[in-house]
Amino acid sequence: MTDETPSDEDPPGETPADDTRDHDEWARVVMQGYDGVAEAYDADRDGADEVAFVESVVADLPRGARVLDAGCGGGRAVLETLADDYETVGVDLSTEQLRLASERAPAARLVRGDLTRLPVAAGAVDALTALHSVIHVPREHHGAVFREFARVLRPGGRLLLTTGVGEWEGENDDWLDSGAAMQWSFHGRERSLELLEEAGFSVDDDTVLDDDLGGGEWLFVRATFDGR
Ligand SMILES: C[S@@+](CC[C@H](N)C(=O)[O-])C[C@H]1O[C@@H](n2cnc3c(N)ncnc32)[C@H](O)[C@@H]1O
Repeated sequence: MTDETPSDEDPPGETPADDTRDHDEWARVVMQGYDGVAEAYDADRDGADEVAFVESVVADLPRGARVLDAGCGGGRAVLETLADDYETVGVDLSTEQLRLASERAPAARLVRGDLTRLPVAAGAVDALTALHSVIHVPREHHGAVFREFARVLRPGGRLLLTTGVGEWEGENDDWLDSGAAMQWSFHGRERSLELLEEAGFSVDDDTVLDDDLGGGEWLFVRATFDGR
């Protein structure tokens, strides 16, 4: 695993978004939260219902195509499905999540980093997945996140993203009884699709699936990057 994430001592990096709220401070809470909750989350997370979406995103790609999983967590759904056949890179803030991913998908390249500034060259990936991860970035930064996804995708590259069905923000001081704090922030369907289109994506379809941790519903969006 390589490390692209600033430590608490590092100066704040440049965030490609407005500064309505400090993304770096959010990222530290989320990183520490997932380091604390990783085992409990992994025990409850399944992802089997999402595998068909993951497979559809690479259906037209040759074996060995480059797939980036932004906020890969413990490797459920994406890395466990694709790592043996595609050149996969998983990026996540949480060392504990990456440790689980390395056990579940040993063929994947794993990088500790922030999905708002991906450690990947422009146009370098054929497909990008972000399942249940952008929801942990303050929503006023989501437009910039989608532009960052567009930056790293080649024209015609495919995106699979989960976000909220309706807009919501919340926090939990003891998520999954782990003692770890967590926070979420997302727009509703219409605004998320609008931001994707503003970032250069054509939305192919969107589908609502139940949360496999029993916490409501999520919007699964498939989109294609139209190019710059
Ligand atoms: C709910 S988990 C989902 C993990 C995995 N995608 C899955 O579907 O099982 C969210 C993951 O996103 C990561 N994450 C949240 N914000 C992030 C950010 N700004 N940069 C990188 N990873 C982030 C968390 O550390 C966590 O592992």
